[in-house]
Amino acid sequence: MASSCIRPLTTSTPPSACPPSNKKPTTNLARRHATSSCRATAAGDDDSRLLWLPRRDVLTGVAAGLTGYYPNLAAAALATTTMDSCPRGDKVNDKVVECTDPNKGFPCPPSPSSPTVDFSGHVTRVTRVRRPVHLLSLEYQEKYKEAVRKMKALPSCNPLSFTAQAAIHQAYCDGHYRYSPEKTNAPFDVHNSWIFAPWHRMYIYFYEKALGDLIGDDTFALPYWNWDSPAGMTIPAIFTNPGEDNTNPLYDRERNQDHLNKLVQLDRNDQSDPIPFNNNSKSSSNDAKYEAEVFRNLCLVYQQQIRLGKDARAFLGEKLCVEKVVQDTTNSQGTLESLAHTAMHIWTGRSGPPPGAACCSGDNDGFLDHAGAFSCKNDMGFLGTAGRDPIFYSHHANVDRMWHIWSTVQGNKGFDDDTWLDASFDFYDNYDKPQLVRVKFRDVLDTRNLGYTYDAESEKDLPWMKCELKSLVPRGGGGRRPPPSPEKNPVFPVTLRKNEVVEVAGVTVPAARRPARRQRLLVIEGIEYDPTAENKFDVAINVPRGDALKVGPQYTEYAGCFAVVPSSKEGGGTLKGKVALCIDDVLEDIGAAGASTVDVVIVPRTEANIKLNVGPMIKD
Ligand code: C2O
Repeated sequence: MASSCIRPLTTSTPPSACPPSNKKPTTNLARRHATSSCRATAAGDDDSRLLWLPRRDVLTGVAAGLTGYYPNLAAAALATTTMDSCPRGDKVNDKVVECTDPNKGFPCPPSPSSPTVDFSGHVTRVTRVRRPVHLLSLEYQEKYKEAVRKMKALPSCNPLSFTAQAAIHQAYCDGHYRYSPEKTNAPFDVHNSWIFAPWHRMYIYFYEKALGDLIGDDTFALPYWNWDSPAGMTIPAIFTNPGEDNTNPLYDRERNQDHLNKLVQLDRNDQSDPIPFNNNSKSSSNDAKYEAEVFRNLCLVYQQQIRLGKDARAFLGEKLCVEKVVQDTTNSQGTLESLAHTAMHIWTGRSGPPPGAACCSGDNDGFLDHAGAFSCKNDMGFLGTAGRDPIFYSHHANVDRMWHIWSTVQGNKGFDDDTWLDASFDFYDNYDKPQLVRVKFRDVLDTRNLGYTYDAESEKDLPWMKCELKSLVPRGGGGRRPPPSPEKNPVFPVTLRKNEVVEVAGVTVPAARRPARRQRLLVIEGIEYDPTAENKFDVAINVPRGDALKVGPQYTEYAGCFAVVPSSKEGGGTLKGKVALCIDDVLEDIGAAGASTVDVVIVPRTEANIKLNVGPMIKD
């Protein structure tokens, strides 16, 4: 079967300023990146496009149908049954998870014309050293631009073209892969679980390699947006200068214009009053406020990497359970995903109509989501479009570096569960002769096996490593907790409203295990939210209602947050979410390590209604 890979975008966008948003368009979705068209031939119905994912199954079916990639699965499954309620994995293939696109073009990746090969790794040849964007030499800046320019010039049906790369993220992250074509409500997503870190590592690895190939330089390394260092806490200039006649391929106009040249706010979705970025804050006079914001950013990274990211589950996210997803529930994100990562997406993306426009349409770069509605949240601020902004890849290089530092400098270990280690995905390699390559998670745990590393200089002095948190509430001797407010506990379900604090007093704390095998978790299940909106709430412990709006990562009472990057959902409706926060250090720091109950405060930070069906629980 031959399929045309993309149709050039012509003028079929509706002419009116803001057409009804529920109208399904007849053009393809890849509006402004479409530059040329060509045809690709599908390979037919071979078995080469299997996706292998961890999947839950009934225990009696342990050995059935599992060969090849899961030789030791039965043993692994039994060994992990005591760990959680999602003990084992299974093969998921493209009959089970299909990329569905009614337009038969992007964002589903093109079919391969040759069989998939297994990734073989680089073993000892590390040729690429990733460096901070803001420290690049002029020469390197030009190299980066040249590579992206060449990638943007590839015909869009080449799977290594910039358009196709962006479409891969859209396909995997905005509801185009489904467990079954009928189940529009059960999209497969590479976010919200332990798939997040390895999938994105693979994705930007192939992006980086293609850029190097395009300029014939196998030392080319993807520069990272170093937002965890005070000098990198702004959108780097290389991305914000449009260049003469808009020739800078790293420039994207779909960004929040109010946030250019401002100090980033790593823990907020509601980013009011951004302060001008100052690369040399020490020398200027009135900088107490500036320094406080920088400190808050550093504390956020400290919380993400160290205090709340104590084990693999807390840092990388919970195990993906297919069965749960099909039931429209979810796993918890790890702090690597939910904290700085999500905040920087929303900080960078455009969140409303362009200046002067009242609403979003195809005429003003409104993004047409897969449900056929125009959205104003683009590019970085929306999962369906994030890959269209070149800064996405440098942002994710830093997210990846955070994982690398957690594993190396910090000495933490990922999961030893075979369902994670043997999960694999297929990616295209070789822009001149595209080839699908199957990579397993175990192949990417050490960046050296992918031929890259991060420059040692940037790891020498990590300013967030030693962050001295303060206490928000004076505690006196012995860590006495402030009395809870006299109001009664809420009756769940509760709908959150921005800045209206919800306090749940007397939440039972199970005794810590001795020796502490794993952290106690503060869990909020049954979160229901509108995925197209911005959604965030903070969680803190033993803070009276009156002080709760001041909660932030610089305080010992802070226990983390629920935050998601907006996405679309076919047919509308809400999604289910969950948070699971590691709180042993929080309890320790606020003098509640041995307490039998604590008071939990939930601080809604965004406008959209988030419904909490059940109250917070603390589990061991
Ligand atoms: Cu797949 Cu930062 O997103």
